[in-house]
Amino acid sequence: MTAQENKKFSQVKPETQLTMIKKMRIFLFLLCVCTSYSVDQYRQLAEKLMKETPLIDGHNDLPWQLLQRYNNQLSKVDLNKLEGTHTNIPKLKAGLIGGQFWSAYTPCDSQYKDSVRQTLEQIDVILRMCEKYPNIFQFVGSSTELTNAFRQGKVASLIGVEGGHSIDSNMATLRLFYQLGVRYMTLTHSCNTPWADNWLVDTGNDISESNGLSEYGKKIILEMNRLGMIIDLAHVSVKTMRDVLQLSKAPVIFSHSSAYALCKHKRNVPDEILKIVKEKGGIVMVNFYNEYVTCSSAANLSDVADHFDHIKKIAGYETLGFGGDYDGVTGLPTGLEDVSHYPDLVAELLRRKWNKSEVKAALGGNFIRVFEQVEKFKSNSSGDDEPIPYEQIKNQCRTGYGYGKQANNGNPPVLLPAVVILVYLAHYLLV
Ligand SMILES: *[C@@H]1O[C@H](CO)[C@@H](O)[C@H](O)[C@H]1NC(C)=O
Ligand SMILES: *[C@@H]1O[C@H](CO)[C@@H](O)[C@H](O)[C@H]1NC(C)=O
Ligand SMILES: *[C@@H]1O[C@H](CO)[C@@H](O)[C@H](O)[C@H]1NC(C)=O
Ligand SMILES: [Zn+2]
Repeated sequence: MTAQENKKFSQVKPETQLTMIKKMRIFLFLLCVCTSYSVDQYRQLAEKLMKETPLIDGHNDLPWQLLQRYNNQLSKVDLNKLEGTHTNIPKLKAGLIGGQFWSAYTPCDSQYKDSVRQTLEQIDVILRMCEKYPNIFQFVGSSTELTNAFRQGKVASLIGVEGGHSIDSNMATLRLFYQLGVRYMTLTHSCNTPWADNWLVDTGNDISESNGLSEYGKKIILEMNRLGMIIDLAHVSVKTMRDVLQLSKAPVIFSHSSAYALCKHKRNVPDEILKIVKEKGGIVMVNFYNEYVTCSSAANLSDVADHFDHIKKIAGYETLGFGGDYDGVTGLPTGLEDVSHYPDLVAELLRRKWNKSEVKAALGGNFIRVFEQVEKFKSNSSGDDEPIPYEQIKNQCRTGYGYGKQANNGNPPVLLPAVVILVYLAHYLLV
């Protein structure tokens, strides 16, 4: 407003001025109401649907944050006030999270060292977190318990072990993880195990060691089917995906992976695999990490919705889920900065003409279907008790008990070639 106009305005008679202000106020009020109605009708519908059907997210790394920040001392952290993470209790509430797989993750450099102990520690911190906040979290181990916890207004809490290195090539450890409540295992993290290849094989940064699944890897798949543990194919090589999809009796999940066609990152799922996942009744839970969404350091909510649209187009809405990867990644899309934003993404799908049943399926219906199928294939027949062949162990810290090797002579024959070369070198140098 210029000084001239200001002067004119103040020359208007007081009563007229008042009426004009009133009219302007009413106009502005109506404008606000109308705009927010058209913006918010999707958001309101999203919230309504999320109160009827649980949003079940496939992967959250809050337990890793608890280890990194507090060395798992829950006495030193208040999850109602925790700052600097993508996840805390107020954000979970605002995000209307109905069910969450908490990741029991230990990095690949623990493989052949203390990966089993580290994984146990992460399982323990998840269980203790649920115990510390019983009004917020309810630990669950079945699809029925999951649904009941949601009906009681709790965040149904499940455990996923991220990486086959966590079981140290050992079925007993796998079975006991199930007993402790673990309901999925990602077959590899970003490293091969002695029995399965990881996605880095597809980039050329790792060498294929098992050509997908080894024979022992196949036994692990069947044992997971028998236990009723969900098989997670995030992080594995495409050949491993194919081997598992062919072998597994129960449907599988990708707990946190996006669509390769939209971002050619080898962590994502190619279209031809999406089609097999659909055939087998499995799901892909979309990862929000910028690098997997746009193959760059920047992305927004709409880019993530594109992945939902793409997977829906290729494999149908029955093949979808959410797998945000919060607190496990650093770059998240504008509009999806933390776990409080899920309803905004759901609103975007509604804006894109997804109907109610499609949205509800993606929220949690599809996951529950997979979980029920996995439970159906569960069997009480006795488990596979054949250990991994001694020469495939690779873990030099393992003793040889059970294989008829002496305890302190338990180094697997993987060392043999190295010893032979050393002896040869010594001989050569001395002669
Ligand atoms: C999101 O980012 C894309 C580019 O990746 C851009 O085309 C689009 O306009 C952005 N959308 C919003 C809502 O910011
Ligand atoms: C929603 O869309 C699916 C197909 O994607 C269709 O089978 C279903 O009938 C639709 N439901 C409603 C309520 O329109
Ligand atoms: C498995 O369960 C069925 C029925 O519940 C029972 O008849 C059968 O004996 C059980 N088998 C084993 C190996 O426990
Ligand atoms: Zn991961």
